[in-house]
Amino acid sequence: MKISFAASPPAGDFALVIPSAGTQRPGVAALGPDSAAVEAALKRNRFDGDAGSAVEHFLTGEQPRRLLVVGTGGGSTPAEAAEKLGGAAVARLLLSGESHAVIDLTGLGYDADASARVALAAALRSFRYDRYKTRLKDKQKPTLKHITVVGGADGAKKAWESRYAAVYEGVLLTRELVTEPANIIYPQSFVERVLASIDGSGLEVEVLDRAAMAKLGMGALLGVAQGSVREPRLLVLRWNGGAKGTPPVAFLGKGVTFDTGGISIKPAANMEAMKWDMGGAGAVAGAMKALALRKARANVIGVCGLVENMPDGNAQRPGDVVTTMSGQTAEVINTDAEGRLVLCDVMTWTQKVAKPKVMIDLATLTGAMVVSLGHEYGGLFANDDELAEKLIAAGTKSTDRLWRMPLGEAYDRLIDSHIADMKNVGPREGGSITAAQFLQRFVDDGVKWAHLDIAGMAWSDKAKPTYDKGATGFGVRVLDEYVAANCEG
Ligand code: BES
Ligand code: MN
Ligand code: ZN
Repeated sequence: MKISFAASPPAGDFALVIPSAGTQRPGVAALGPDSAAVEAALKRNRFDGDAGSAVEHFLTGEQPRRLLVVGTGGGSTPAEAAEKLGGAAVARLLLSGESHAVIDLTGLGYDADASARVALAAALRSFRYDRYKTRLKDKQKPTLKHITVVGGADGAKKAWESRYAAVYEGVLLTRELVTEPANIIYPQSFVERVLASIDGSGLEVEVLDRAAMAKLGMGALLGVAQGSVREPRLLVLRWNGGAKGTPPVAFLGKGVTFDTGGISIKPAANMEAMKWDMGGAGAVAGAMKALALRKARANVIGVCGLVENMPDGNAQRPGDVVTTMSGQTAEVINTDAEGRLVLCDVMTWTQKVAKPKVMIDLATLTGAMVVSLGHEYGGLFANDDELAEKLIAAGTKSTDRLWRMPLGEAYDRLIDSHIADMKNVGPREGGSITAAQFLQRFVDDGVKWAHLDIAGMAWSDKAKPTYDKGATGFGVRVLDEYVAANCEG
């Protein structure tokens, strides 16, 4: 999607989008002779101006064109309303036959950030993945190619160019990785797809293969990988945009490119959803791309643990004891609780090699998280209140919303094992919390750590303002905002 900014509408043909904040719609009054007919159309459609509502009308006057009045009122913050506006406009116009839409913000009083976020939401909402649709009729193909935001605050263009255009590109990468099926995206092809996408961005890349990880003693990650013919990978992306010697903030991602459950195999119904069990790693790759493209003034390391979890003659068994890179041992009670086994070794490696002061992991870790929070918030676990608050604030601002969950000694005792240092599952109750407790056992002293369980957020069965049904790209925006608000001095 091409995005431009202008002070006033350009010449030529386009669909005009006019926001209506409740009943306030100066853009309609400005239509002159057409405005009475538009008001009548709004009335007949019972248009209330609530955020996301929209009415289409054709102007037949001197300049015939499609008009879309979009509501931005009702309870949302200006930034949220801005995103709903951009998203709703594109949802309506993407397949409409129009190729250019002009969104006129005149009189709305949006600041630069909100004005740019109209464009961001519009661009994000246009994402589709039609690579495997070989029989689309012309009418089913998007026509909208260009959005011009008009009448926004000074600085909107700069906010887009210096920040949100990069965030958009990062989210697109995440969505592509998450959308692709597991016969296409497996550990090595995940690496290749990311490398092709970040080529020229200035990110430093390191890739570890099975032999390298074996040498380092990553017995937990490799135990998960051993049932698959797909070779595991550890993908490391470094962005050194900050002061030399400043320890990096670390982003870690669960990248299970397909999760069958292993020998503790999952039921057949909906198992295809487990192609997106690499959503944490996908978000880390997307966030790293965004930070590099916008040349963030921060040192950041992104580490993706990439494996496929399969049942096989060589797969690990329930009851197996694995030795993690940290030296701690874990009894694998359930081979379907594999994400924590992958992440624990990624955590140890990252702390040893990069010595971060802050470490944030993202993972589609537990079904229990979806039971707790549904599809509105990602679960946040943290060993530090200040880090938790910063992430919640970044989540709210970015619309990748987070809700804090508890950690504690009593939960931790639930994963003690009879034979090893810990077992990889606790009781059914509090399943997201015991998963987080497992991870916390791998956090070094002095490291501020947060774990984002994004199981309910990586994929959506419903369209929302900034995405259609499918991959959401959740995680990229909150990480970018966290860096922007806290790490760039
Ligand atoms: N990848 C799943 C979690 C998941 C489930 C993500 C549904 C998204 C939607 C994870 O590896 C898993 O299988 N977790 C188990 C843990 C259990 C065996 C303790 C779960 O949640 O059932
Ligand atoms: Mn699993
Ligand atoms: Zn999983």
